[in-house]
Amino acid sequence: MPSDDAKAAPAGGPPTDGSGFGVYIHWPFCLSKCPYCDFNSHVRHAAIDEPRFLRAFLTEIAATAGRAGGRTVNSVFFGGGTPSLMQPATVGAILDAVGRAWTVAPDVEVTLEANPTSVEATRFRGYRAAGVNRVSLGVQALDDGALKRLGRTHTAQEALAAVAIARAVFDRYSFDLIYAREDQTPDAWAAELKRAIAEAAEHLSLYQLTIELDTPFAALRAAGKLTIPDEDCARALYDMTQEICAGAGLPAYEVSNHARPGAECRHNLVYWRMQEYAGIGPGAHGRLDLDGTRHATATEKRPEAWLMRVESLGHGLVTDDNLTREEVADEFLLMGLRLAEGIDPRGYARIAGRSLDPRRLAILNQEGAVEITPDGRLRVTPAGFPVLDAVVADLAA
Ligand SMILES: C[S@@+](CC[C@H](N)C(=O)[O-])C[C@H]1O[C@@H](n2cnc3c(N)ncnc32)[C@H](O)[C@@H]1O
Ligand code: SF4
Repeated sequence: MPSDDAKAAPAGGPPTDGSGFGVYIHWPFCLSKCPYCDFNSHVRHAAIDEPRFLRAFLTEIAATAGRAGGRTVNSVFFGGGTPSLMQPATVGAILDAVGRAWTVAPDVEVTLEANPTSVEATRFRGYRAAGVNRVSLGVQALDDGALKRLGRTHTAQEALAAVAIARAVFDRYSFDLIYAREDQTPDAWAAELKRAIAEAAEHLSLYQLTIELDTPFAALRAAGKLTIPDEDCARALYDMTQEICAGAGLPAYEVSNHARPGAECRHNLVYWRMQEYAGIGPGAHGRLDLDGTRHATATEKRPEAWLMRVESLGHGLVTDDNLTREEVADEFLLMGLRLAEGIDPRGYARIAGRSLDPRRLAILNQEGAVEITPDGRLRVTPAGFPVLDAVVADLAA
């Protein structure tokens, strides 16, 4: 893995021939739990035994390569939780293990998700030296009141300072914002988004607030103490997001992800183009092609239980399902139609053993929800994206 202290080389777009291979590494700990979040993230008041977790990561990487060797890694993604709580040496040791387990593409993209606090930003140079060449920062809002309501522990100014450090250290960085928040007006969001774009280089992830089951936000909403924009207002905010970003040269390449053309997150594309990826760490999911079948893998979610499982069995897998043809075809639609580039209907036919229903396609096309591009790809139109789930369900039926 790269370990020089020079600015990491920018990684280009991913391969489109299905040959990409990604490695996802999940760090499951956070300093506090945000009330909207249902990711597999945990707060521990005792110190985390990082060397012990590292040994388990290395064991699981070796075990996965034992089943799925011979791949060339195009992307490594440290997600969480809060991977920016890891020591740079831990990240470096994991990347070294990835390099021992598989061939690593010379232009590999190595992303690490970071919370934008000053403490974490001080580790950015260490991450770069360890081989990380892209960071993704969870800025969430550029408004201190909103950050407080989201349970964030940083201010907008602190987040922007972390973005500035990311810009100085890495050629590639992205940050996340959450919109359609409580009391957020279209004008306020437009101003916030324009300010964010001025700070963004090549990539922004813009997520509409989702009230996830069993989160404190779900309870507040049920108690009438949290009101989020209604469907029409959320739709107006979404449309405005598309317009402002496209106008600034950051069109959506996926429902919530915007990039300058060529600067898309390679790891994201591995998922949405149905390429293979290994899931390492607690609660990590993977998709591996083994003996001619696509396997859906998942590891134990609870961090300490995952650790003990890896220590006793040599891996943390709790799910390793052979997907049926139909299941792979459904995933192909579900993932691929999230992308602005859409899918190749011939690819669908190859996987499913049947073509998409031309009558359904014609109806969706007449309704303005999908279109066929001049090179024969099927894609969802801007008008279809807000009802993507219904479009996919219709095509997959
Ligand atoms: C794994 S999470 C967070 C990474 C990092 N721990 C942080 O908070 O900065 C990735 C992103 O998902 C988004 N996200 C999480 N929960 C969400 C929700 N309920 N609605 C919308 N976006 C959400 C946030 O923007 C977050 O940055
Ligand atoms: S949003 Fe990020 S920091 Fe907050 S609980 Fe989720 S993973 Fe942790």
